[in-house]
Amino acid sequence: MSVNTVFLNHAFVEETQASLLVTDLSIQRGYGIFDFFKTINGKPVFLDDHIARFYNSAKKMHLQISQTPAELKGIIAELMQRNNLPDSGIKMTLTGGYSGDAYTLPTAQNLIITQTALSIPKGLQEQGTTLVTYPYQRQLAEMKTLDYSMAIWLQPFIKEHHADEVLYQYDSFIKETPRANFFIVTTEGEVVTAKDNILAGVIRKNILNLEDTVFQLTEREFSLEELYNASEAFITSTTKNILPVLKVDGKEIGDGKAGKVTAQLYDLLLEKIG
Ligand SMILES: Cc1ncc(COP(=O)(O)O)c(C=O)c1O
Repeated sequence: MSVNTVFLNHAFVEETQASLLVTDLSIQRGYGIFDFFKTINGKPVFLDDHIARFYNSAKKMHLQISQTPAELKGIIAELMQRNNLPDSGIKMTLTGGYSGDAYTLPTAQNLIITQTALSIPKGLQEQGTTLVTYPYQRQLAEMKTLDYSMAIWLQPFIKEHHADEVLYQYDSFIKETPRANFFIVTTEGEVVTAKDNILAGVIRKNILNLEDTVFQLTEREFSLEELYNASEAFITSTTKNILPVLKVDGKEIGDGKAGKVTAQLYDLLLEKIG
């Protein structure tokens, strides 16, 4: 098997040769950010949205990216050429950097860009997914940080509750899952997703921006109670696109099947992805 090429700071290297020093703040304190997008048939999907979010996360976390967005796009294009993986996931990671006392934020960060083969199933996955709620508010929720401790720590809890993933709620208001945004369709047909203290997902944004549709798309707080009484629910993310949520906390949502609105939004999203 051939070894993938990665970009590390200023050079392309084989994945097996790419390494960081142990003084990096990502290792010492879990400090850093990333972003992740897919390529389909050799074309990055929603690249500008992901680049914008990556720079935004960096700025808000007081981290520097030495390259301009145009330079970064050039690096991504070259990486894609070198790896020749038409359907892939590309991850841009910016670590805190090397810290003398393993705590103080240094001025220079480390940039890593990796590419791995990824194929996303075609068609709405009718078998959907099952979630279990847990009271938690992600720290620094608007930035895509490296901190997934709660999600990983909750893996046994998720298993015990026969769920596929956790759904964070805080003060009884629904937020998001660790790796996806969450939507409900109310019995009145309103399509609702949380507004604040969440990561602004790229798929979420592209759904909210769907023009010329009959749907009423709203960003607002909604409660656990409203979720239990919804007629449909789904999650959105780069790797899942749209995935129906059939059960939450052991309760069926609507009739417990993938919903009509969910399927229509999926088709509209796919048209945008091309
Ligand atoms: C916390 C969180 N919310 C939502 C999402 C979905 O974002 P996107 O649609 O950009 O993949 C992610 C993606 O990993 C995430 O980590």
